[in-house]
Amino acid sequence: MEHTEVMKPETLHDLIKVLHKIFESDNINVEEVQNIMEAYDSNRKEWEKFAKFDPYRYTRNLVDEGNGKFNLIILCWGEGHGSSIHDHTNSHCFMKVLQGKLKETQFEWPDKKTHGEMVQKSERILEENRCAYINDSLGLHRVENPSHAEQSVSLHLYSPPFETCQTFDQRTGHKNTVQMTFWSKFGQSTPRETKVSQENN
Ligand SMILES: [Fe+2]
Repeated sequence: MEHTEVMKPETLHDLIKVLHKIFESDNINVEEVQNIMEAYDSNRKEWEKFAKFDPYRYTRNLVDEGNGKFNLIILCWGEGHGSSIHDHTNSHCFMKVLQGKLKETQFEWPDKKTHGEMVQKSERILEENRCAYINDSLGLHRVENPSHAEQSVSLHLYSPPFETCQTFDQRTGHKNTVQMTFWSKFGQSTPRETKVSQENN
């Protein structure tokens, strides 16, 4: 007899343990991962040591390297901070809101022959504890903290891990490859020189 249980991770530590287990397999069930990430009730005490803000732009803080199968990253968004429009380098991208709200705007891939304003597909506000999913076949997105009064924090899982992505100019669809860096790793700030020219995913 097979039992399918909806596991509720009680802590961030529990969630990471469950994710390690799931990603031992090469066949990832997107809905299962999304449900488990959503089931974790954000508790600031469990993640605040990773949440390091910069006054000028959002930061990427590495939490766990997932045995090489995934990267788990906490993004800290100051008031009004946002990403470029970007792709996800053929990886799965899960994005859970830990604090505040995030606005996600999805775009179609630009048509190589035409130059012009990129086509917007959808726009939504993600509330605390919600977990969104995107990959390159679904399109591109921009993520922003829509609030000008509150910070927001989100937990991102990328599998397989990647170090570069492409960003897109909304007006022309022109793209650039960017290197992604970490503002901190495992709760420790990274040296200043590795922080330059970071971009988001
Ligand atoms: Fe993204």
